[in-house]
Amino acid sequence: MHKKRVFSGVQPTGNLHLGNYLGAIKNFVELQNKFECVYCIVDLHAITNHQDPKDLKSNILETIATFIASGLDPEKNIIFNQASVSAHSELAWIFNCVARIGWMNRMTQFKEKAGVNKENASVGLLVYPNLMAADILIYKATHVPVGEDQKQHLELTRDIAKKFNNDFKCGNYFPIVEPLIPKEISRVMSLRDGKKKMSKSEDSDQSRINLKDDKDIIDKKIKRAKTDNNPIPSEINGLENRDEAKNLISIFASLNGIKVSEVLKEFGGKNFSTFKNKLSESAVEKICPIGNEIKKLLKDKSYLDQILETGAKRADLIAKNNLKEIYEIIGLTKFT
Ligand code: TYM
Repeated sequence: MHKKRVFSGVQPTGNLHLGNYLGAIKNFVELQNKFECVYCIVDLHAITNHQDPKDLKSNILETIATFIASGLDPEKNIIFNQASVSAHSELAWIFNCVARIGWMNRMTQFKEKAGVNKENASVGLLVYPNLMAADILIYKATHVPVGEDQKQHLELTRDIAKKFNNDFKCGNYFPIVEPLIPKEISRVMSLRDGKKKMSKSEDSDQSRINLKDDKDIIDKKIKRAKTDNNPIPSEINGLENRDEAKNLISIFASLNGIKVSEVLKEFGGKNFSTFKNKLSESAVEKICPIGNEIKKLLKDKSYLDQILETGAKRADLIAKNNLKEIYEIIGLTKFT
């Protein structure tokens, strides 16, 4: 039996938004009281696409500020940046040798991000999921809170763990991780198109609510969010084929910690303008304090650096120890 441990990561690519919050960070905060948690700013994943070095530095600080502003306790949890703990990259190399090329080629995120010109994508983008598996398994984490878009990567992590355990006949050395995906909203969709995921890389800023948006901007974005002409249904099956409606209702449910069915009970039969007023109120109430706190924390960069430094030391201790075991299992010797 493996000790229960949570691991998750967020890329420091700027513009963290409501999707990151409701899909992942909100869950991180809830889990900190139940499990030992390790939360990582995955800067090495970010460079699979070119990043301006100055922006990368400030985005790392902004991500840690977002974690803290959202309610993560830096003492209770291990919070650090991936580049500080070299065991992630070392285990990723081992997993490059365990995972099969066919597995990588099946990843929908690679296909989406590489676009039509696959030959021109970085090799890092292709083997991205192996580094992600290494992030998780270097801590022998058992539970991983993520949004639904990361589910396939976690299935791959399970396959890598099984193949490693099997190839090296080491029983259940690596745990088979369980994804923790929010029930009421597993994928927050764009405010402009209910078929597209809310994303920091989407050109239109109107498509997402950024955690640093102020009250007026949040209100405007919600009021302008795409809906249809029908009233809100009273039953869940009335949301079928109504992607935009379903998205807004699910966001409301998640922000208020209630079920979609409860939202429909309250608003069923009403029109969207009434509902949008309430949604805007909830979003402002939950998101603005986080945005304000992020801005405040960013004024004290040495405090943020200090959290990262302490977190890196704590993470490195666990990761180094596990890496030593892994090298032994494989038959590699480290003389340093
Ligand atoms: P990233 O940085 O794209 O997103 C961070 C987290 O936010 C979730 N998320 C969403 N959830 C719901 N709706 C959305 N529209 C939405 N957009 C983003 C993501 O699912 C994620 O949980 N590969 C990961 C980072 C990573 C990682 C890991 C995660 C690297 N190593 C190990 C878990 C464990 C990523 O790119 O997330």
